Formats: sequence, structure tokens, C-alpha cells
Amino acid sequence: MKDSYEPNAEMARAAHADKATYDRMYAESVEDPAAFWAEHGKRLDWIKPFTRVKETSFDFGNVSIRWFEDGTLNVAANCIDRHLAERGDQTAIIWEPDEAGDEAQHISYRQLHAHVCKFANVLKELGVGRGDRVVLYLPMIPQAAYAMLACARIGAVHSIVFAGFSPDALANRIDDCQAKVVITADGAPRGGRVTNLKDNVNKALVNSNEDPKVLIVKRTGQQIAFRAEGDYWLHEMEAQVSNDCPPEEMGAEDPLFILYTSGSTGKPKGVVHTSGGYLAYAAMTHQYTFDYHDGDVFWCTADVGWVTGHSYIVYGPLANGATTIMFEGVPTYPDAGRFWAVCEKHRVNQFYTAPTAIRALMGKGTEPVERYDLSDLKVLGTVGEPINPEAWTWYNEVVGKGRVPIVDTWWQTETGGHLITPLPGATATKPGSATLPFFGIRPVVLEAESGKVVEGNPAEGVLAIADSWPGQMRTVWGDHDRFEATYFQQYKGYYFTGDGCRRDEDGYYWITGRVDDVINVSGHRMGTAEVESALVAHEKVAEAAVVGYPHDVKGQGIYAYVTLMGGQEPSDGLKKELADWVRQEIGPIAKPDLIQFAPGLPKTRSGKIMRRILRKIAENDYGALGDTSTLAEPEVVDDLIENRQNRR
Ligand code: WTA
Repeated sequence: MKDSYEPNAEMARAAHADKATYDRMYAESVEDPAAFWAEHGKRLDWIKPFTRVKETSFDFGNVSIRWFEDGTLNVAANCIDRHLAERGDQTAIIWEPDEAGDEAQHISYRQLHAHVCKFANVLKELGVGRGDRVVLYLPMIPQAAYAMLACARIGAVHSIVFAGFSPDALANRIDDCQAKVVITADGAPRGGRVTNLKDNVNKALVNSNEDPKVLIVKRTGQQIAFRAEGDYWLHEMEAQVSNDCPPEEMGAEDPLFILYTSGSTGKPKGVVHTSGGYLAYAAMTHQYTFDYHDGDVFWCTADVGWVTGHSYIVYGPLANGATTIMFEGVPTYPDAGRFWAVCEKHRVNQFYTAPTAIRALMGKGTEPVERYDLSDLKVLGTVGEPINPEAWTWYNEVVGKGRVPIVDTWWQTETGGHLITPLPGATATKPGSATLPFFGIRPVVLEAESGKVVEGNPAEGVLAIADSWPGQMRTVWGDHDRFEATYFQQYKGYYFTGDGCRRDEDGYYWITGRVDDVINVSGHRMGTAEVESALVAHEKVAEAAVVGYPHDVKGQGIYAYVTLMGGQEPSDGLKKELADWVRQEIGPIAKPDLIQFAPGLPKTRSGKIMRRILRKIAENDYGALGDTSTLAEPEVVDDLIENRQNRR
């Protein structure tokens, strides 16, 4: 395994940035961020150009992040209308359905315009206006993109809930943002199986405090249960509205979307992104990180229910006039060659996926890759979790045949776009390192305990960012105090990422994973607190503690310690019952992989659960538990070790 790969010279020549350009632009971006972004904010079409650029403060108690404040624009017009004159007939979206045998759809910019205008008029018919919230609970179908852009067009705020989430999780999000309309489909096919989405919406609304109207896209044609009132078919409504819908003039800082994400405590928080800064940043990172050029076909395999889908299926690519692929299916259906079949079929140039998918496919050998012609690939990307060097090398050698640069992009729901990433023509890569900061990003490594900046290289500690960038989240929906407390309280003057990291001798960043109680399962972010609260909601459970442990394919697995109510007997049947319960409460991605029944949990005398010990045991690393003398009942640890579930 090599430890460093130089960018190839031919690529560097044609790229948006070679090393000299990156060095120069990066220096400019951090020396005078306002001047830099004043220039790059011009990549958008503004209705009223901004004169103010950067007004940001990371001061705890007064955190405020505003970019391009006095500019006005419309995000949908930037993603569609401004491309019509030059590329109206170019494909904007290629939709690849779940079944490999079903026909793909090619939607041109002109068609996208018509679909979005109609959709927007339907939303208006349903009473949606500027600032109203609309929840999307949809399969990966073109209507998901139409709905997002229709909201943007009329100034409504969308909040997408991943279609794998349960009715309860959906209800919580509908309530938190007080949605006026929920957009869903009859069913969602995925990997050959169908989820009855409308049913889930019905269940969610029984428990919701809100009474939103429900707009239904016909995807599968299956039977669905209509409620007595408030349910509408999209196709019926569309037949009644016009194609004409002028875009609303929105302020740069008007919210574009809310996306719920897990933190270390409490319920998921609504991450708020606004219009101007977010779009400029998503578009610029899409262009530079993937070295996207006009005419390229770009494929991000994420779901639009996650931020990766927002920024790199819809907003970034469409703002750049790109051709972007939306894929409804999964990497292993009908077989482990599906990704590569789609790459060959649509002549994909940039391919962006998650390490967990690469590891799963690695397990199936090289034959499913070798079946297909992948010679159009120019850039391969990864996101979502640290990529292990073995998976990186497989991606490089088997998929990229050693000739395609890999971009390991580190970022978060909160950051809107890539913060630490190689640029294909500029950055020498090292397997497992996200390498260097994007333009305008000032990473710092802090000592976890003291918060002191660790100067010089190498350095190790927690990762924080010293100054704002346009794609940064602005607040937590309805709870600015929580925003400040989560990201700005612990290390004053910095945005704290929640990740640990190492910076090597060359100044390269290596993300080591979360340092808080967030775990990353198959690239999906889960709060251990959420899984715990689902478990204790079960009548047989007295107490629960959840930690992550290393998992070969998923990156991290979910390990739950459960103390039962008095009189309840542990059994394999009960384990299954609890795992299914969590699956139902939150969704399949939250289902514990391992459950250990524990008569007691290790607690300090003040009653705080010592997770450090639980993590070690879950990792099967119980030899080094550290100091257990402060425990209220040190003997519970012996039982935990004795009955550990992860024996390797
Ligand atoms: C992790 C996904 C290492 C990290 C865009 C971060 C990564 C969390 C990488 C955010 C990467 C994401 N290398 N770790 N390239 N990309 N992460 O909000 O722990 O779903 O804090 O955003 O994923 O997850 P989120």
C-alpha cells in the first residue's frame, strides 16, 4: 500500500485548480475572506446584488452568522432558470429507478423548469407561502428534487425526512417545524422491497400535534388509505394549475431548508441553512472538489434525506448547470455490480459514495466491477465517515484502475459543504486522510481538556474551525441557545465539530471520529441518546446505555446495554423484541447490532454512567479499563466483561 499519491499531471493541467492555484486561492481566502467571498459570491445570479459580505461572530452569547445579507436572489432560479438560455435542452437530472430493467428518465433543464413551476403552483394551491415549512418524506424520485426546488421557488422552507425513518421520528420532525404540508408517495421501492410511505404518514399524523395537508406522489400505484380529508394526489392537483410561476425574491439569509440531525443529547436538532451563502458554497465545492466541467455527468449515491443529497445531488450540481444522477436503489440490488452498471450506462465522470458502500462491495470481490467499462470516470469521492486505507486502496485500484484521483471529503450537516478535502488536480492524497482545508476554512486542533490550540505538526486533539464560511448553518430551528451551546460553548471563539483529529508532519488532517456521543453507522449519524430513549420507552426496560463499536462493514455498530425491569427474564427472544422495537421507534438504521443484558451499569457515585468503560467492553478491549475505583459498585464491571457480546 502506497502512502502518498501525487495528482496526475494531465489532470492538473485541465483542472480548475492545480497546486499553485490552490495555494494562492487558499491564502487569499483566509487573508481577506470578505474580499474572497465577494468575488466568489458572484457565481450566483443576484436579483439585488449584495454590498455586505461577511458579518459573522463566534462569540459565545452573541453568535451570529450572516453572509451577503443585503443581497436578494431565488435559489430555484439559480438552479434552473438562468441555465435555460444556454442549456435548456441539456439533461439536468438522470433518474435511475430501483429496478435495473426499468427505463431511466432524462429530465432536461427546460422540463425541470416546467415540473418545478407546476409543483410550486400546487403548493400555493395548498396554501403554502413564503416562510412556511413543508416536510418531504419521499423515495429517491425526480419529484423529490421538484419539491425541493418548488419550495425554494416560492420561498417556503423544506425539511426532508429520510424515508427510512419511522412514523414517530417523522411526527417529531413535523411537530418541531410545524409543517403546513407533508409531501410523500404511495410507496417507496428500494432494493426490490416496497415501503408503504403513505401508511407511515398516516400513522405519524395520528400522533402529531399538527394537522398538515398531505400531497401524494404516485410512484408504485399500490393501494393506499386516504384520510377523511386533507389528502391530495399530486397528479390531480397538477392538472388544475398553470405552468407559470415567477420565482419569489428572497433575502440571502432567508432559510432555504431545515434538516434534522443527531447530536450527543436530546432529540435531533433542526439544522437551518439559508439561501445565498449555502448555495454559493455548495456550488463552489461541487465544482472544485469534483473538478466538475460542463458536460460531465455527476453521480452522488446519497439519499436526498441526508445533507449529502441536498448539496451534491440537487443544489450544488444544478447551480452549476450540471447533469446529476438520482438513484432510487441500493448498491447490491439486483447484484453487487449495480453501481458500476449505472456508471457504464450513463458514462459517469464523477462518482461520490460512502466508505460503508465501498467496504460492502469490497466483500463481493473484483468481478462485479470488472464486468463494466468505467473508463469515463475522472474523480472518485467518499464521504460520511473515516475511510480505512484498505477500502481507499481497493477503491483506487479496482474501481479507479489507479488512474482516478480520490477525494475523501470531510464535512457535516452543519457545514453545508466540504470543509476538508483534496482537490483532484491540486492535492497529493494519502489513503485515510481528508488532506487539506477548502478555500476559506481555518481548521484548528485543540487540546480536548484545556481547549488550548495545538500549534505545529504533528498535532492531535479535537477539530474546531476558527472562522465562518458561507455554507455554515445559521441556527437550530427555534432554539438559537441550543445552537450556541452545542457548537460554541465548550471552546470559546471556535466552531466545535465534535470530531477528533490528527494533523501530520505535512499538515494533513486525519479525522479520527466523533468524540461525543454520536455514532456513525453506515455513514448515518445517530445519537446514542436517541437509541437509549427508544429502549427505555419499552415497558420491560429499566435503563439503557448505548455505545458504538468497530464494525467491519458499517464502520460502527450499535451496542446496547440494557437493564431489565424487576421480574423480567433475559432471553434471546427478548433481545430480538427490543431490537425490533428500536427499529420501529426510530427506523432500521437505529436497530442495535448487539444487546447485552446488564444487571447494573457502571456509575460514578453521583450516578453518571461511565461510558468510557462501556465503550471499552463493547470494543472487546476490557484489559485496559483505566481507573474504576470511582465507581459506586465496581463489581458490576466484572459481570459486564463476563457477558460481553463482542468476542473476537
Ligand atoms: C463524519 C455527512 C471522516 C464525521 C456529510 C462528521 C467523516 C460526521 C467524513 C458528519 C470523512 C463525514 N472522514 N469522517 N470524510 N465525512 N464524517 O452530519 O464524524 O451526516 O462529524 O454529514 O460524519 O455526519 P453528517
